[in-house]
Amino acid sequence: MNQPATAAQITKAPAAPAYVNHSGLKAWVAEIASLTKPERIQWCDGSREENDRLCEEMVAAGTLIKLNPQKRPGCFLARSDPDDVARMEDRTFVCSRNKEDAGPNNNWVDPAEMKATLNGLFEGCMRGRTLYVIPFSMGPLGSPIAHIGVELTDSPYVVVNMRIMTRIGRKVLDVLGRDGYFVPCVHSIGAPLAKGEKDVSWPSNKEHKYIVHFPETKEIWSFGSGYGGNALLGKKCFALRIASIMAREQGWLAEHMMIVCIETPEGRKHYVAGAFPSACGKTNLAMLIPPKVFKGWKVTTVGEDIAWIKPGKDGRLYAINPEAGAFGVAPGTSEKTNPNCLAAVTHDTIFTNVALTPDGDVWWEGMTKEPPAGLIDWKGRPWTPDSKSKAAHPNARFTVHSSQIPSVDPDWENPAGIPISAFLFGGRRTTTVPLVTEALDWQHGVYMAATMASETTAAIVGKVGVVRRDPFAMLPFCGYHFGDYFKHWLKIGASLREPPRIFGVNWFQRDAEGKFVWPGFGENMRVLKWVIERCEGRVEAVKTPIGLQPRYEDMEWQGLDEFGPGRFKKLMEVDPEQWREELKDHGKLFEKLKARMPQELEQQREKLRQAL
Ligand code: OXD
Ligand code: MN
Repeated sequence: MNQPATAAQITKAPAAPAYVNHSGLKAWVAEIASLTKPERIQWCDGSREENDRLCEEMVAAGTLIKLNPQKRPGCFLARSDPDDVARMEDRTFVCSRNKEDAGPNNNWVDPAEMKATLNGLFEGCMRGRTLYVIPFSMGPLGSPIAHIGVELTDSPYVVVNMRIMTRIGRKVLDVLGRDGYFVPCVHSIGAPLAKGEKDVSWPSNKEHKYIVHFPETKEIWSFGSGYGGNALLGKKCFALRIASIMAREQGWLAEHMMIVCIETPEGRKHYVAGAFPSACGKTNLAMLIPPKVFKGWKVTTVGEDIAWIKPGKDGRLYAINPEAGAFGVAPGTSEKTNPNCLAAVTHDTIFTNVALTPDGDVWWEGMTKEPPAGLIDWKGRPWTPDSKSKAAHPNARFTVHSSQIPSVDPDWENPAGIPISAFLFGGRRTTTVPLVTEALDWQHGVYMAATMASETTAAIVGKVGVVRRDPFAMLPFCGYHFGDYFKHWLKIGASLREPPRIFGVNWFQRDAEGKFVWPGFGENMRVLKWVIERCEGRVEAVKTPIGLQPRYEDMEWQGLDEFGPGRFKKLMEVDPEQWREELKDHGKLFEKLKARMPQELEQQREKLRQAL
């Protein structure tokens, strides 16, 4: 599969457009075409015309529904196959030569065996379809922090989504030149069409699904699914799994983090990056609107899912958002939770698996209190509030370009990146973890991030609501052994002159009745302000066994009068009993990763045990 194509194969394949000068790329496309046997090959130039034509074709094929141009201009709705609705962690593999390198945090299969399996599956898998060639840049074109990939896919839905999520087309080939490096990404929905066979609106492969990464050759192969991170290979597969490996080799960080800029009334800007597991409000935090009392404070959005972070010459960390758009979870997005996001998706947005209103608009649970009458659910069936299932799938998504976000930061495409002042790490925890805790130093911060946990959500196939350890919110996304990843973080920190401060947060504590204790959303600004003031050295903190916490009087409480010192104390409580249990669970994680666990984190655990 990795062999260069023979001259005979190349001459049989249709010629690439004259503007393609990269002979390695042309040879690889020919090689994949000779394996997958598409009806035709289309090199995507990334133009508006190309996009509009593909959308028209998908409307004709029933893959997309054009929404009412008066209500949602330039918007479409896609309904996926009900078996193809989320990332599939149990079908995701990291096939390093040495099993240990993938670590217990990844599914592993011997690379030769996996290649044989994939060769079998990809043989002729694009028959009757078009192979689209999508050159894409993760990060602003030509940025020293950016990297290029090329995705080959038989899904036009992937093309139009990749056009929003990344920078695609001719301009990428210009940067790539004659022999530039690119990460090869091969994707097929795995549904060849026989001559005369009628297509379905969301073709996929019911039997086989594989999302595979080869660390040594930096290849990505995905088969059988057309949904989100399984198919838009620039996102989780490249920008996290493969990039995390590249980052370790090259001395930088590829992280599952949003990036937000907080500007003080005096005009000082601080960029904060935050790692949160899927569907834990990362998008809402990235687009937060501060409560009225924060006069003069500004919050702007650099990224909402992924950060690539490189050490600068000045000893600080500089980050870019490698993506150009958001593939966000729609349910729960409302005027109250995320008005910036709602404003972003009023036009030129692709919705997937949301409900359709009779007047050609979209709706999802949580958008409004009352659902509109006459809804059609995500499976295309009439829906009423009495229906047993939800109108929108819980992992329904919108794909929207970052430039459409009203709060987008003026520097969101700065090729040099922006300097990071603080890292946040937060899971969804009903109990145990306080609202905010600052790490004592970098090593302690790495320990906090390594031991974070969260309750699972609908973003992945499987049981919802189970607490699982999710170090750095990277459990499904770290392309190598977590022990080595922790070591890498320790090493990066030690090399910095001005390392960002590290904070653990938890917006999700609930009371005995199951109600959220903290109001969250825009009110999280109260925590962010304290974080910034700590970074500026303007406020003291209280030492607890698990780290540093705010004093009541140092947080802004105006407008949140129900939070007296008593309620605040409850939110910040460190219950020794719960924490001893927590510590045991940290121990189980470390035991699993024992072969490569850094000593420093074992020592941190011992320190915490003593402090408790
Ligand atoms: C996502 C995820 O889609 O984390 O961003 O699942
Ligand atoms: Mn994510």
